Amino acid sequence: MRVVLFGPPGAGKGTQAGVLKEKLGIPHISTGDMLREAVREGTPLGQEAQGYMNRGELVPDELILRMMEERLRRPDTERGFILDGFPRTVAQAEALDALLDRLNMRLDAVIDLQVPEEELVRRLSGRLVCPGCQAIYQAQSRPPRVAGKCDACGGEVITRPDDRPEAVRNRLVVYARQTEPLIEYYRKQGLLHSVDGTIGPERVCEQIAKIIGA
Ligand code: AP5
Repeated sequence: MRVVLFGPPGAGKGTQAGVLKEKLGIPHISTGDMLREAVREGTPLGQEAQGYMNRGELVPDELILRMMEERLRRPDTERGFILDGFPRTVAQAEALDALLDRLNMRLDAVIDLQVPEEELVRRLSGRLVCPGCQAIYQAQSRPPRVAGKCDACGGEVITRPDDRPEAVRNRLVVYARQTEPLIEYYRKQGLLHSVDGTIGPERVCEQIAKIIGA
């Protein structure tokens, strides 16, 4: 199963991918998580990406495409994968199609999680994440059991630097301008499935599972 989880910042892509990877036994490939790890490790990619990310802008396509080609060629993708945060521009989607062609693979579904803007802003303003294991919380509605500590690994949970209000505003503008056009791109390919992302994570997951037959 090769699935793209698509949607604006805060739509719930990471939350759903975390559940689906266990259910399907395939890797969750998040360009955002990969970039944040590169930033933490201070690699050349991380140093170049950090400024773009903190401002809420997209990291240049050529950096992302190099990173993703290397990732998708690893053997653990043979049974499938869940893409989260990629592709994000038409150029990235075209490059993904070309790469999958070369690898003799094709996408099975693109899930578009639909959430209104005011709800996205509300969610991101209260999001807490665990940099160690990528678990995701919501300060108001789904807080960790012990304040400040990840339920899964006990690590410290933090607010992402790009969840500051001005970066969130920029991410939403960037999404509308550069990423939303992909909805039409995948609709034309017959791969697009829209899911109401406002109905609570468990019910969203049921909807996705129904679509992909999991
Ligand atoms: P990335 O990490 O991909 O961030 P994003 O797309 O902005 O998405 P988020 O991680 O903010 O949200 P999400 O949809 O995963 O929501 P979540 O599940 O956490 O990218 C970050 C940056 O990296 C980009 O700005 C860019 O700079 C760079 N980058 C990454 N990929 C790139 C690419 N391909 N090209 C160029 N640059 C790239 O949920 C959010 C909150 O809502 C949580 O608190 C959660 O608990 C809550 N929640 C989730 N689902 C529900 C629900 N159903 N009901 C109620 N609350 C819910």
